[in-house]
Amino acid sequence: YRTIGVIGAMKEEIELFHEHMHRVRETERAGITFYEGEFHGKTIVLCKSGVGKVNAAVTTQLLIDTYGAGAIVFTGVAGAVNPELNVGDIVISTECMQHDMDVTALGFPRGTIPYEKTSLFIADPQLRELAKEVSGELFSGRVKEGRVLSGDQFIANRETVAVLYNELNGACTEMEGAAVAQVCSMNGVPFVVIRSMSDKADGSAHVNFAEFTVEASNNSFRIVEQMLKRL
Ligand code: ADE
Repeated sequence: YRTIGVIGAMKEEIELFHEHMHRVRETERAGITFYEGEFHGKTIVLCKSGVGKVNAAVTTQLLIDTYGAGAIVFTGVAGAVNPELNVGDIVISTECMQHDMDVTALGFPRGTIPYEKTSLFIADPQLRELAKEVSGELFSGRVKEGRVLSGDQFIANRETVAVLYNELNGACTEMEGAAVAQVCSMNGVPFVVIRSMSDKADGSAHVNFAEFTVEASNNSFRIVEQMLKRL
């Protein structure tokens, strides 16, 4: 890929990239700052999308149209949904879905976007493979491939987690991945989402999130760093 877009939602999620990249140009579009430059010899565009699906969607379309991103990697933290995942563990997206898309009143299954070909946005096999290789080396035994669920909700109760796990087959939950994934799919641009668990999306999620976001963000950074080196 000539240019790789790297997105995080929050400051903590892009901080280490910002520190370690050689920045050439800094521009602003739609209130989002895009940092173009070199990272381990690769041309990247780094940005902080802000939280939620709208921010993530706008950022992704700008990365593609304005900044020429040919592939997009999302890096950051998530709430664990699969009970086998612990804080600090890694999820590599197989696909993404919007868990808060709810047109069940009209008979559509939860998560289904009416009248679209699909509501599951599939991550790029090559980027997934590379992520798996790298994270296996760095976080052996603490990595799962699985479905990343996104919604404009911070999940902090066990009942919701059970629904996300049992009904929607989620591995983790966050607030941007499926928006990035859908925009990438609409544009034919390959993507993968890398998330390290900051919490278990349960009653302690707010406390754990505050305590572990930096550590989890750094786990995700280490994986994406090695991926970019090898791309
Ligand atoms: N990101 C990190 N933890 C999360 C949670 N519990 N819900 C939504 N997004 C998150």
